[in-house]
Formats: sequence, structure tokens, C-alpha cells
Amino acid sequence: MIDIHCHILHGIDDGPQDIKESVEMAQIAYNDGIRHIIATPHFSANHYSHRGLVRDKVNELQNQLHIHNIGITIHTGNEVRLESPAFIEEHSRDENFFYLGAASQFILLEQVWEGYCEETPKIVKSFMKRGITPIIPHPERHFFFRDNPQLLIDLINQGCLTQVTVDSLLGKNSEETMTFSHWLIEQNYVHVIATDAHNVRRKPNLSEGFRIVTEIAGNQRTDDIHRRLEQIIGFN
Ligand SMILES: [Fe+2]
Repeated sequence: MIDIHCHILHGIDDGPQDIKESVEMAQIAYNDGIRHIIATPHFSANHYSHRGLVRDKVNELQNQLHIHNIGITIHTGNEVRLESPAFIEEHSRDENFFYLGAASQFILLEQVWEGYCEETPKIVKSFMKRGITPIIPHPERHFFFRDNPQLLIDLINQGCLTQVTVDSLLGKNSEETMTFSHWLIEQNYVHVIATDAHNVRRKPNLSEGFRIVTEIAGNQRTDDIHRRLEQIIGFN
């Protein structure tokens, strides 16, 4: 399995405490059946995880995984927060954050928690024009998408992908988050799932997510998600 959203790098954002915990997370992921992880530290006003830093941390962790004989490949990435249109424009121009996938054709583009950025469709349009598809992480956790799903549907119609988080499906975030995440799957508005793991408690648990998707929407949908994850990472 492929996890495209995981805060597995230590000392870079609100992820694991130290490299030891990163390795423990990788072991949990491996035992769950995960073989590829895109490391997606926050790129935001609070956590400036620029490319050089992410690359160094990925290399450091990959070396540790070799030493510990854990067969997982770590890929570079970022979870980019839409602090403002100017923030995205500046850091995209200066190539400060990582896109996702071998061909850098996807961006994990997170909304701020306080409210919906009304200029999102404009920003999405400019990425799409450059051949980059925005993936919206955990829409189910944002109150404005729950209150007004049409905001999300409009972005999907523009070509955005959505990523629901396994903990939401499991009910670990809140009741309303779980209800909305299940509804999104029923309505076929979920393109991929991911763990958004941060440590050994908020852990990589992808297989449980796939179990729920299969329960709600069947095997075909589960296969579709696996295929899309392969496309995002660049395997096909
Ligand atoms: Fe995240």
C-alpha cells in the first residue's frame, strides 16, 4: 500500500519526537502493509519545511530504515497550507515546497482551519493550467465543507482530488467528521485515503481505512483508490 500523506519526519513539524519514533512509525506502517510513504511535513506559516530540509530528513530516515531492515521507501513531499493566495504564489514561484509524485504533478493543498479561502478556485485553476492537480486533504475535518459540501463539490468539478483521513473514517476525530467522511464515500466524492499519521499514537493505519471503504462502497471502489494512489506516486 501507498500512504501519500504522513508526517513521519522528526524535528520538522508536529510529527514524531525523534528519529527513533519515526522508525517506530515506519515499522507500524510496514506491519500494516504499507511499502511507500510520501513524507508530507507541514509547509505553513508555523512550519517552514522547505525542500532542502525535507530532502535531508528523508535521506536520514531512509538510511535508518535500511539499518533496521524495514522495507519502506520514503518519498519527498509537503502538505502545503493555503495561508493566503500570496503565500502560495510566492513559495510556488520560489520552488520552496515539494509537490507529490515522481513527476511533481500533484500538490497536497490544505485549507486553514479558521475558514474557507474564497480564492481557492482561482488558485486551483492556476495549478491546473500548469498541469498540477490539487489534492484536498481531510475535507471532512473542515467545518465549512461539512456545513456547505457544495464548496467541495465545486472544487471536485474543477478537477481537484479529495483525500479522506483514516482516523476520520474510524470515528477518532469526531462523530460529525465520521458521518461526513462516510457520506463522502457513499457519494463517490473520495478519490484517495491516507493516514495523516503524526506519531505512534496517531499512527499509520491504512488497512483499516480500506476495510471501511470496502464495507461502504465495495471492492471496485477500493481498487480504484489503490490505482489512483499509484498514479499519484508515479507508478503508472
Ligand atoms: Fe497532515
